[in-house]
Amino acid sequence: MDPNAATDETTIHCGTCFDSTHWRTFMQLLHIDSAITGEQSVSRQLTAQTVAAWVAAHPGTKVEYLDLAAQAPSHLSAQSLGFRTGQAASTEIERNENALSEALVSQFLASDVIVVGAPLYNFSIPSQLKAWIDRLAQAGRTFKYTDKGAVGLAGGKTVIVASSRGGVYSTSEGGQAMEHQESYLKVVFGFFGITDVRFVRAEGVGMGPDAKAAALASAAQEIGTHTSVAANQARVAQAA
Ligand SMILES: Cc1cc2nc3c(=O)[nH]c(=O)nc-3n(C[C@H](O)[C@H](O)[C@H](O)COP(=O)(O)O)c2cc1C
Repeated sequence: MDPNAATDETTIHCGTCFDSTHWRTFMQLLHIDSAITGEQSVSRQLTAQTVAAWVAAHPGTKVEYLDLAAQAPSHLSAQSLGFRTGQAASTEIERNENALSEALVSQFLASDVIVVGAPLYNFSIPSQLKAWIDRLAQAGRTFKYTDKGAVGLAGGKTVIVASSRGGVYSTSEGGQAMEHQESYLKVVFGFFGITDVRFVRAEGVGMGPDAKAAALASAAQEIGTHTSVAANQARVAQAA
């Protein structure tokens, strides 16, 4: 049996080890916001709706919350690079940075479902969200290099990205080439081995009230669709 694949929604691997006897009986959801726009934020509205719909559809789900706009890890620096260089921490700052990286990657690995609020800022994601991803990208934890190239180690999870955009990018090749937000997240979660990446998208929210209302209505439909499908569905189907 694939130790990372959930067999159903009440028997789930803990996600942090490869011991096939280590199962728990609830689903763990990590709710992340990264928008800096407070109560006006569209992506925060979408993540809240997505998490509420997920919990309603999958009772018993436990939710952890991380607000990266309020509490983002610092940018990677010489002090926080220990997990990449393998050099032991020799200062208090380095030890604290290592502990933070470890806490964030452990929290991510322990989650079955991750709902990520990802606004489009300057054609990409908020730097706070990038700083979080930089702490997760650890060889031996979320990926490893082999003689055949990189292999993701965090498979079996479901990621739902709540994407908000002022303009419209999805309907033209030119638009798709300009955005480095959804495309980047798909690549980086794919690099971690996650194949089940779903998108809830409200785009064109800066193009007037009618366009914003239409974008929110379309996103609400996607929330219904994406939260009614079980987590890890694709992977379980693959493994079967
Ligand atoms: C700093 C900043 C940069 C932005 N850059 C872009 C952009 O490059 N393209 C775009 O279409 N909209 C851009 N917008 C508009 C946002 O994508 C839009 O307001 C969206 O709702 C942001 O998500 P939020 O409401 O959760 O903050 C930007 C907004 C901000 C605050």
